[in-house]
Amino acid sequence: MQKVLIKIFEEVFIHQLSKKNLWVSGLAQIKIRTLTMSDYESIIELWMRSGLPFKQNGRDSKTMMEKHMTAFPELFIGAFKATKFVGVIIGSYDGRMKGWINRLAVDPTFRREGIGSKLIHELEKTLHKLGTEVFCALVEAPNKKSLLLFKKMGYEIHENIFYISKRQKVDF
Ligand SMILES: CC(C)(COP(=O)(O)OP(=O)(O)OC[C@H]1O[C@@H](n2cnc3c(N)ncnc32)[C@H](O)[C@@H]1OP(=O)(O)O)[C@@H](O)C(=O)NCCC(=O)NCCS
Repeated sequence: MQKVLIKIFEEVFIHQLSKKNLWVSGLAQIKIRTLTMSDYESIIELWMRSGLPFKQNGRDSKTMMEKHMTAFPELFIGAFKATKFVGVIIGSYDGRMKGWINRLAVDPTFRREGIGSKLIHELEKTLHKLGTEVFCALVEAPNKKSLLLFKKMGYEIHENIFYISKRQKVDF
């Protein structure tokens, strides 16, 4: 009986908590800070490793990022585990009531530890301070894990909306 109880304790508390990396240190180890242009190369590297597209002649060029960062430095947020850069998220604000969540990526080695959720939560707080009442994101159709993440964080998925765009250049 005692052995069975110990087994249950191990499974429920130790295994589950360490799986979530919450045991002893876990998520508390994750430090959040705003990013600067000195993080540019690390940001690009993390996006590429995470399978996100890199628009080097458009929004992801050094010039464009610097422009956006100068206007909204608080909307570039990074997650760090010790000194390792493990997650990134970028916000944008349309000047009305909508705040956009863009380019979220978590290092593949550190996924399912709550880092993506933490980054979204931090960005929501920042966007809210800017006057945003609606948080939105565009997620490509097959990205199930991203949809599940947003759903878990209380986001509504709109299946009857089309994304429409017109580009001045193809690679923008
Ligand atoms: C999507 C992504 C940011 C999630 O980051 P993460 O740190 O692993 O997310 P979290 O640990 O905060 O996950 C929170 C919840 O999201 C859901 N989720 C996340 N990844 C999942 C997966 N692979 N399978 C199923 N559910 C998943 C789960 O509900 C999870 O809660 P749980 O672990 O308690 O079950 C990460 O997988 C990633 O960087 N993917 C590649 C880039 C990308 O697609 N970015 C989003 C562009 S819109």
